[in-house]
Amino acid sequence: MSKKKRVLLTDESSGKELELPVVAGTEGEPTLDIKALPSTLGYFTYDPGFTATASCTSKITFIDGGKGILRYRGYPIEQLSERSTFLEVAYLLLNGELPSEAQLQKFRGEITYHTMVHEHLNEFISGFQYDAHPMAMMAGVVGSLAAFYHNRMDMESQEHRMVAAQRMIAKMPTIAAACYRHHMGWPTAYPQNSLRYCERFLHMMFSVPSEEYQVSEVSARVLDLLFILHADHEQNASTSTVRLVGSTGANPYACVAAGISALWGPAHGGANEAVLDMFTQIGDISNVPKFIKRAKDKSDPFRLMGFGHRVYKNFDPRATIIRQACYEVLEELGVNDPMMDMALELERIALEDEYFIEKKLYPNVDFYSGIIYRALGIPVSMFTVMFAIARTVGWVAQWLEQSNTPTKIGRPRQVYKGPTERKYEPPHSRR
Ligand code: SDX
Repeated sequence: MSKKKRVLLTDESSGKELELPVVAGTEGEPTLDIKALPSTLGYFTYDPGFTATASCTSKITFIDGGKGILRYRGYPIEQLSERSTFLEVAYLLLNGELPSEAQLQKFRGEITYHTMVHEHLNEFISGFQYDAHPMAMMAGVVGSLAAFYHNRMDMESQEHRMVAAQRMIAKMPTIAAACYRHHMGWPTAYPQNSLRYCERFLHMMFSVPSEEYQVSEVSARVLDLLFILHADHEQNASTSTVRLVGSTGANPYACVAAGISALWGPAHGGANEAVLDMFTQIGDISNVPKFIKRAKDKSDPFRLMGFGHRVYKNFDPRATIIRQACYEVLEELGVNDPMMDMALELERIALEDEYFIEKKLYPNVDFYSGIIYRALGIPVSMFTVMFAIARTVGWVAQWLEQSNTPTKIGRPRQVYKGPTERKYEPPHSRR
């Protein structure tokens, strides 16, 4: 029987002691429960960026950053990416178990049932400038779904919450494709419910009324793989945002809209777009050493986009899988993309460089994904939208998990560094 871990905190100034209970997960690092700290020793804790702080317990996704492990509900990402489909993974993340064939069929039907959006949403989208960034459009349009469903949603009802989750999963591809087509000046393409999830999305993206559009099986398959890999990643910035907004009792559409906005940042999901912009900036493989040098220079704001991770201090298992998929897709689609050679050279040099080794910086999920999106004909400005479509499954799964259990409103503390109390002086007496 392993000895129960005890952690004792002693405040030498007061002589007071506090035993901090250890919250043991089924995997991963033991965590100290510090809730009693303010009321017993009178201290709060300070952890900017939450580098060492758990905000919740969860049964959905497990990551071991040192070993490069990622599991959805206990299933290794390598097995799911090899043998599952995005909708089956969505069912797993939402419900905790892999579905039977009948359950998967029913779930597919539920998602397919919700693929259409209210026609007024298409008018909403038509009001944007043609060159509006699609992530800006997505945040606005997804948030507006609350206007269509808010009054017909009982947040206390588990059934209503599940329907809202299914609506989000079903409608994100429809809204994303509509945003892209607005930018292209093309008419809206309505979802073809006879198609599977990724085929339906590609059809909505690229079909034109004037001719038959045949979805490439290779493209649909690799897109399904990318969606599986991006589906969830425990308490990353955008998921934590969704949970925080959800903790106020806000409706799920508002929560997901907040998640979309958080994901857009180049330090997070916006990195896949930033990686392609970086490759374009580097221009030629001969320039790679110069940019590696810039990435190491503290006085230079340039960072190697697609490199580094808060949790993975070894390889990101998703990057390994995507890198392999790059080779296969480029070959199957007969695409010769010089950016692939540049990516491989950049990775090779960086991984031999002391700076990256010492800081444990490896390619992350965003480093190679853009090369595949390019091969599928998806424009760079839509890369983070692709991430958002996939991550909607994780966002709504984590929102459901939080909504199904009593939750306190999230309200972090601060260390105040402003002025101490002072007296108001009328304007004429101020210097
Ligand atoms: C995603 O959390 C998730 O799970 C996110 C995600 C998901 O699925 O939800 O995995 C998706 O967001 C992946 C990350 C995509 N972002 C990028 O590729 C942007 C480039 N990467 C960095 O901005 C950075 O690595 C972060 C934001 C990803 C991680 O930042 P941390 O954990 O806060 O690490 P840090 O900024 O404290 O860096 C540690 C050191 C620093 O040097 P020192 O101050 O210690 O001297 O490493 C350096 C950093 O300057 N560093 C880099 C670097 N990343 C970190 N130096 C050059 N290039 C980089 N990319």
